[in-house]
Amino acid sequence: MVQHEQVVIHTGRRSGLVVIVAIHSTVLGPAAGGLRLWRYRDWRDGLADALRLSAAMTSKFAVAGLPSGGGKTVVVLPEGGPLDPGRRDDVLRDVADVIASLGGKYATGPDVGTGPDDMALISETTPHVFCRPAHLGGSGDSSPHTAQGSLAALRAVGRQVHGTASMDGRRLAVIGLGRVGAALARLLAAEGAHLTVTDVDAGKRGVAEELGAVWSSPDDILGAEVDIVVPAALGSVLTRQNVAGLRCRAVVGPANNQLASPDVADLLHHRGILWVPDYVASAGGVIHAVSTELHHAGADEARTRVLAIENTVHDLLDTARRRGQTPAQAADALATDRLRAAAASA
Ligand code: PHE
Repeated sequence: MVQHEQVVIHTGRRSGLVVIVAIHSTVLGPAAGGLRLWRYRDWRDGLADALRLSAAMTSKFAVAGLPSGGGKTVVVLPEGGPLDPGRRDDVLRDVADVIASLGGKYATGPDVGTGPDDMALISETTPHVFCRPAHLGGSGDSSPHTAQGSLAALRAVGRQVHGTASMDGRRLAVIGLGRVGAALARLLAAEGAHLTVTDVDAGKRGVAEELGAVWSSPDDILGAEVDIVVPAALGSVLTRQNVAGLRCRAVVGPANNQLASPDVADLLHHRGILWVPDYVASAGGVIHAVSTELHHAGADEARTRVLAIENTVHDLLDTARRRGQTPAQAADALATDRLRAAAASA
């Protein structure tokens, strides 16, 4: 994977917090990627996250066949309680200044810790922002579309592993009930899936009850005996150590950066567990936002493009099998081919 084109590390003049914008690649087009507000022990940990997340966005767009590049913004929040609203506005304005200074090379969107209202505030400073609320002309919350896209990926895996795309009666373990995880759990429950769920916030137990799901602890859920484990929270859930304890046929979900290190993909493969790369299964949100806001696709067309993730995953699994590769290798090869082709014709 190529190195980053540009990384800005900036201390916000209002908030005093470290704002990191990582532009991994603009080979396919101007970069896009969400704004993550998260706590890190050290700003360098935030930098490492931004570097990894922005590279994944490049692959996400390449495999989705969209003419956008990969970027990400991370704001390193201090340890302690939540930001008070005034401080939050300061942070968002600091972020907006950095994005504005990049002159369109990068546009942001929602990610962990941010949503459409935050995008509205950023849009007061710069137009390079996706997912403003619909009444302001944006495409709104991306999380329902990310959830739809992950369901499409799950269907492709269902076809491959169980011979049917239907989730009726399928046993799934959903890790994380944030905006995307909860939306996906709802879609799955509505289809008759048997759900085991967890979240680091025990307050989410209500969602489990509402869906008739079994609540598990974040520590135990990876060992649940299910058909598919669905990572829908923060990254690095799959490690060299814990892969040995998995009792599922597949791991597919919307969380970004699911693997603690790339070699975990091989360990999964050796255990006969099918892993769909996170950047393929999580693309629904950006596919919807970019199609709607940049390519002016109507609602039906945007939805069709999100649901096309099912065919993308189906084709990837097919290619991987034919070539004797892991799905991760097949997806990386597809992304690399598309980037090379774009670079060659530039
Ligand atoms: N959080 C989204 C992702 O990881 C980022 C995003 C959504 C960016 C919508 C732009 C628009 O894919």
